[in-house]
Amino acid sequence: MSKEVNSESVSLCPLSTPAATEQEMLCIFGTGDLGRSLGQRLFQTGYKVVYGSRRPHSCGPLPPGTQAMSHVAAAQSARLVFVCIHRENYNFLETLAPQLKGKVLVDVSNNLKKNMYPEANAEYLQRLIPGAQVVKGFNTLSAWALQNGPSDASRQVYVCGNSLEAKQAVIEVATKLGFTVLDRGSLTAARELEDFPLQLFPEWRLPLQLATGLTAFFFFYLLIRDVIYSYVVNDKDISFRIMASLANKVFPIVSLIMLSLCYLPGVIAAFLQLYRGTKYKRFPDWLDRWMLCRKQLGLVALALASLHVLYTLIIPIRYYVRYRLAAHTISQIKENKTSPFDTTMAWRTDSYYVIGILGFGLYLLLGITSLPSVSNVLSWREFSFIQSKLGYLTLFFCTFHTYLYGWDKFLQPSSYKWFMLPGYMLSLVVPSVVLVLKLLLLLPCVDSTLTRIRQGWERTDPEQERKKLLLT
Ligand SMILES: Cc1cc2nc3c(=O)[nH]c(=O)nc-3n(C[C@H](O)[C@H](O)[C@H](O)COP(=O)(O)OP(=O)(O)OC[C@H]3O[C@@H](n4cnc5c(N)ncnc54)[C@H](O)[C@@H]3O)c2cc1C
Ligand SMILES: NC(=O)c1ccc[n+]([C@@H]2O[C@H](COP(=O)([O-])OP(=O)(O)OC[C@H]3O[C@@H](n4cnc5c(N)ncnc54)[C@H](OP(=O)(O)O)[C@@H]3O)[C@@H](O)[C@H]2O)c1
Ligand code: HEM
Repeated sequence: MSKEVNSESVSLCPLSTPAATEQEMLCIFGTGDLGRSLGQRLFQTGYKVVYGSRRPHSCGPLPPGTQAMSHVAAAQSARLVFVCIHRENYNFLETLAPQLKGKVLVDVSNNLKKNMYPEANAEYLQRLIPGAQVVKGFNTLSAWALQNGPSDASRQVYVCGNSLEAKQAVIEVATKLGFTVLDRGSLTAARELEDFPLQLFPEWRLPLQLATGLTAFFFFYLLIRDVIYSYVVNDKDISFRIMASLANKVFPIVSLIMLSLCYLPGVIAAFLQLYRGTKYKRFPDWLDRWMLCRKQLGLVALALASLHVLYTLIIPIRYYVRYRLAAHTISQIKENKTSPFDTTMAWRTDSYYVIGILGFGLYLLLGITSLPSVSNVLSWREFSFIQSKLGYLTLFFCTFHTYLYGWDKFLQPSSYKWFMLPGYMLSLVVPSVVLVLKLLLLLPCVDSTLTRIRQGWERTDPEQERKKLLLT
């Protein structure tokens, strides 16, 4: 008898169903990689394991303590059967329909591509053996993870199925194996579960694409503006600068832009809420998606900023820098000249280094708090204080560092080679916009309205209000 499952909740009470009493003996169809690993773990956890195989007497070495039989015999000896066979070979199971009637079949299969078949593998299995109770599960684990026990990457097991009892029997086994079980509802969720292992860092895709796109753009922009310009106009080959100087411009520029892109969606969201006068309307999808990948945007930006810091460390030992320094000193000795100490220059360089260091320190703090082991011990308020308040301070320091680096170069015509702005000037556009918009949001009248909206207050349309009054 199968009950339809409506909720995602999992009952924590011990089972008193037949599944609980019969779970001592479990059956696995297929003696391949997953079947063997699963059998070994099940046996180590205290279950008896029997394999259903095409060649029970010559299927190779099985985990000690387990035995192999024909599919028919194995199916009859257990109530729960793990089908560790590729979907392409499911057809033969149809002939076992009488033996599998009333059994719980766990479909662990995955596909090589999304949408390979019109229906999910688990639904196909259910169609082949309508008398069985199919549960999709364990497919997100690898044979390797099963052999080595739950690790950080694979502590979770997803299950879905139409029969609550069957699902509970599977959940109990998974829990005994040490996994955390997430119930995804009925068997219609099977396709979603089968797609999970095919995803490759989905939430990193957009930030990495953005970082690659921006890096490529600024690399070619600065190549033309600095290296090719010098070659064409001054007849000087400074292509060696590509390795260190150019890279040390591209990385911090892209990092600063990406850092500001972490905070831009929050500002847009705040203005949307102010405009709509309510927080109860959904944000557009693109904004939702943008907000959801801010962590990854931030971490990629941090990686690029770290590269900038490492590149900066090698500046004094670079051949080009040492050569320029020595040549300058020699020419001064020859001409018997000394440059006067420039206090403004000392202020400028010290300030931009120190502000850069402070910015980088806070950047690291944001990165550290985003580690699950750290964020788990912080309260929501503490996490939000660091990520939001100190995050804006980080953006401010990094932007200020870049403004100080530019100093009076903004006013020098030589900065605009071939009418192209220096890279750092371009990098200042988005962060400056974000900081100005944030300042506007901090104005007392705006801030108080936003706070009220976030506490649930809604602005009502005076026209609608009048109509309501007239009606009442
Ligand atoms: C190195 C690094 C690591 C990062 N790690 C993480 C991370 O681990 N996790 C993460 O999420 N981000 C991370 N980020 C991104 C960023 O720091 C955070 O997303 C930060 O919280 C954004 O702050 P915010 O003020 O713009 O947004 P939020 O505080 O999220 O606010 C955004 C919008 O949400 C709405 N909102 C906020 N509070 C309320 C409320 N009480 N009621 C109703 N609506 C509300 C408002 O519309 C607001 O404008 C990281 C960034 C960096 C640089
Ligand atoms: N390997 C993993 O890490 C992993 C992870 C998650 C999910 N999965 C899924 O688990 C299932 C098994 O994967 P696997 O890696 O263990 O595959 P495998 O090593 O190829 O083993 C499959 C087993 O299926 C049986 N089999 C093969 N052809 C058959 C046929 N024509 N008819 C009946 N049985 C046949 C064989 O067992 P007998 O010779 O004993 O009959 C074979 O050992 C697949 O659906 C896969 O998507 C695997
Ligand atoms: C330890 C911290 C830091 C130090 C010591 C430092 C130092 C420097 C130096 C020496 C330069 C000039 C490089 C050159 O002459 O080519 C520079 C430029 C720059 N820095 Fe930093 N920096 C630090 C952190 C940061 C951080 C966290 C950011 C933010 C992303 C950042 C953004 C920039 C930008 C955008 C430039 C201009 C690049 C260009 O176009 O030349 N810096 N920094």
